[in-house]
Amino acid sequence: MRWLYFLFLQILLVALTGAVFYIHKEHVVVIKKPPASLAQWYRPENKRQVWLHNMFKLRREMQAVRFYSDNGDAKHLGKWVARLSEHYLKIGKMVPEWSNKLDRDAIANLIKSSENNRYQEISRALDDLAESCNSCHADYRAVTALIYRAADFSSLEIEPSLLFDSHMEQLAKQVNQIKIASEDGMKDIALSSLDELKKGINVLGNICSDCHQKEKRIYPDDKIDKTVESLEESLKTGTPKQQGQDLGRLAVLACARCHGTHRIAFDAGKLLSDRQGWLELMKH
Ligand code: HEC
Ligand code: HEC
Ligand code: HEC
Repeated sequence: MRWLYFLFLQILLVALTGAVFYIHKEHVVVIKKPPASLAQWYRPENKRQVWLHNMFKLRREMQAVRFYSDNGDAKHLGKWVARLSEHYLKIGKMVPEWSNKLDRDAIANLIKSSENNRYQEISRALDDLAESCNSCHADYRAVTALIYRAADFSSLEIEPSLLFDSHMEQLAKQVNQIKIASEDGMKDIALSSLDELKKGINVLGNICSDCHQKEKRIYPDDKIDKTVESLEESLKTGTPKQQGQDLGRLAVLACARCHGTHRIAFDAGKLLSDRQGWLELMKH
């Protein structure tokens, strides 16, 4: 009798979960997450982005096999078929949870038909293989890139005990203070806020080289420096329209351009890696 009771509870639980999802289906996006074992093939657990490089090899090898098969070049074909099958099967060794996504028949057909120079069959096996690539990509490609490859700003400190996002808030305050003071004709406040902003931009620039090592100073660049100068001039002697234009230009160069790459990617990656709790979900 006891197990029947237990079974009943299980069914009730599943039905309840289903109902919650159904009721909220317009507010919820369901995204499949890649298995945790994928992390070992990315930074920081690995020195290189091993997974991604295996993928680049696969694309090149697919192209080479197609090329030599189209040209009936048996001599080169064998080499690339061997590489393709090695790196394709490596997927299952690197992430065992994805073993069952592999089309082993397509690989077997590819090897057999290339040994016998049956080019039509090679082409069909390649099509099957491409389907297997596409089906995994449809579910996991974008989400993996965001989780493992978006530059991480969460623990960056601009200066000892000044966290990155607190610094961002200060910058935004300074930009808006300039705008407010300029509109209301308070020149001194506008100029002193610009001075603060200039300092804040310079300090922010120090962290870029943590990752952008090869480039010379990328932030603030000459264009940003010139725009700051121009804004300073127009705050002193220009019209409100000139002030607005300079400030708008500065915000695009010094803020929006970087947000277009880093903020979007970082936010999306964070959204996907944080486990959205059930409570959170129910609130919506
Ligand atoms: C079981 C899952 C899976 C299979 C099968 C798979 N891939 Fe991928 N592939 C991924 C994931 C996940 C990414 C995203 C990696 C990243 O962006 O860091 C990816 C990314 C790629 C990329 C980089 C895309 C880009 O333009 O940046 C290429 C190229 C690629 N795969 C080629 C292939 C080819 C060719 C095959 C088939 C022969 C294949 N993949 C099979 C999971 C898979
Ligand atoms: C945590 C590492 C990291 C930090 C810190 C960082 N970047 Fe990047 N940045 C990258 C990577 C990696 C790329 C390549 C694209 C990608 O994968 O997001 C990139 C790309 C960019 C791009 C777009 C491509 C290009 O080169 O034009 C801009 C713009 C950019 N970074 C600006 C900045 C600025 C400005 C700073 C400092 C305020 C900065 N980044 C700090 C890692 C970082
Ligand atoms: C590295 C390139 C980069 C530059 C340059 C940059 N930001 Fe940001 N900004 C980011 C990233 C990444 C985040 C997300 C940080 C987070 O959520 O922890 C962010 C977040 C913000 C936020 C939200 C802060 C919060 O706590 O949610 C504001 C406001 C902001 N930035 C304003 C600015 C202003 C104003 C400028 C220009 C003066 C600027 N940013 C320049 C990358 C940049």
